[in-house]
Amino acid sequence: MRVKIGALTEVFPGENRVAMTPDSAVQLAKLGHASCIQSGAGAKAGFSDAAYAAAGVEVLPDAASVIAAADVIVKVRGPDATELATLSDGQTLISFFWPAQNAELLEAAAKKNLTIVAMDMVPRISRAQKMDALSSMANIAGYRAVIEAGNNFGRFFTGQVTAAGKVPPAKVLIVGAGVAGLAAIGTSTSLGAITLAFDVRPEVAEQIESMGAEFVYLDFAEQAQDGAATGGYAAPSSPEFREAQLKKFRELAPDMDIVITTALIPGRPAPKLWTEDMVKMMKPGSVIVDLAAERGGNCDLTVPDQKIVTDNGVTIVGYTDFPSRMAAQASTLYSTNIRHMLTDLTPKKDGIILHNMEDDVIRGATAAHMGAVTYPPPPPKVQAIAAAKPKEKAKELTPEERRAQEVAAFKAQTRSQVGLLAIGGGLMLLAGLYAPASFMSHFIVFVLAVFVGFQVIWNVSHSLHTPLMAVTNAISSIIILGALMQIGSGSFLVILLAALSVFMAGINIFGGFMVTRRMLAMFQKS
Ligand code: NAI
Repeated sequence: MRVKIGALTEVFPGENRVAMTPDSAVQLAKLGHASCIQSGAGAKAGFSDAAYAAAGVEVLPDAASVIAAADVIVKVRGPDATELATLSDGQTLISFFWPAQNAELLEAAAKKNLTIVAMDMVPRISRAQKMDALSSMANIAGYRAVIEAGNNFGRFFTGQVTAAGKVPPAKVLIVGAGVAGLAAIGTSTSLGAITLAFDVRPEVAEQIESMGAEFVYLDFAEQAQDGAATGGYAAPSSPEFREAQLKKFRELAPDMDIVITTALIPGRPAPKLWTEDMVKMMKPGSVIVDLAAERGGNCDLTVPDQKIVTDNGVTIVGYTDFPSRMAAQASTLYSTNIRHMLTDLTPKKDGIILHNMEDDVIRGATAAHMGAVTYPPPPPKVQAIAAAKPKEKAKELTPEERRAQEVAAFKAQTRSQVGLLAIGGGLMLLAGLYAPASFMSHFIVFVLAVFVGFQVIWNVSHSLHTPLMAVTNAISSIIILGALMQIGSGSFLVILLAALSVFMAGINIFGGFMVTRRMLAMFQKS
């Protein structure tokens, strides 16, 4: 049985995206799925009915016929109660759903025996990155926020020296360096603005700096420990920390031309970080883009979905539909996220959906299944990407206890080493009884070389293995010397083996240096 995937036209006012593109439909066909789409669903994102038909998608006249024909419905925005009621009982819906905010709707869905796969619930684990629609949309929002700011800002981003005078570069502050914030930082620095960024998670400082922006440090101890402990997201900060943060922002406000705020802690209203007095301190013509507008905004004066200009001439943009403003790109990325979700739901690529509730990602995203509400999911078995498990704090030891522990560890290590040496020596003696003397001297050198080599490499941190191994590979190719000395020998077999050794050691040498060069190039700015 081939499952049919059906895409509906978005009914939410102003929504331009679509959950299926001609390209994604071609990929769905490779999973064994037939697809259909409501006529005109892709028009606002730039995908015509003809393009869908050419990709093998059945174009149906209205929503009712798509719902009747398809087993799985894909959408961008979650349904409202009316739209939900039109779905057939037992159908699967894959879309944003926000189950925490839509408990009643979820109950209704479970009553209809619908399976709800909420794209906003995909856990933030490495394997699920390709399905992480929140990230792909936030990435677009971050980019678009800078473009929107530029559109409302009457000057260049980059500094210039022209015959008509010197133009200073714009100064941009980005608050919150999550997915959207990092995309905004990348766009802002590439346009040439002096970019500053702040986040409560100090671990992002390096990322920010590697993108050419400046991390705003606070003179406050908590920043060093207030990290991502909650599934890759930030934890709320203390009132003292907030005060230190606001003080810093007040210092920066008069100097900033553009402020883009993206600070958010999931499940909470957006923290108020850009206060009214800071807006008043800004120069006329400055722009604030508040990406957190949907959750009440990071700026006191933000009006969701609107652009306002304050009395002192500061423009505040509170749009909540940035991804929809780049509908073609957003639809392409979102439909790819959906396609990857369907790949996981179709493990045999035979067009048969297997809703495996043992799978972390599928379980995490499923909000209703088999007539029951399955939200909230249990925490994923795999750690969230950014939330490295904090090392268990060692019990405080007195100096005597520590010393005793060290002595015991040293004794145990010595015992095992002496044991190993004794076994090795015994084996060596045994070999010496039978092997010729010339073999033994080479053999002992070989064994010692393996021992020393192992000890050296074993102690190198894993992250350094690739560059280190690449260089040592090249250097260790000293075997080439041995091979060269033998290559003049009369025996054909020796020449063949020596030539092979030269060839293989050559691969080691050139390959080693090439890999090292590539690794180094990754750290160089082009
Ligand atoms: P994210 O969770 O990846 O990033 C949020 C960042 O804010 C985190 O790095 C967090 O550490 C930081 N943060 C939290 N509290 C902070 C504080 N007090 N000070 C400084 N930084 C703080 O979220 P993502 O995906 O980057 O989204 C960011 C915002 O953009 C969200 O509010 C989201 O709803 C919004 N968004 C808006 C869209 C629009 O069209 N307006 C579209 C997509 C996302």
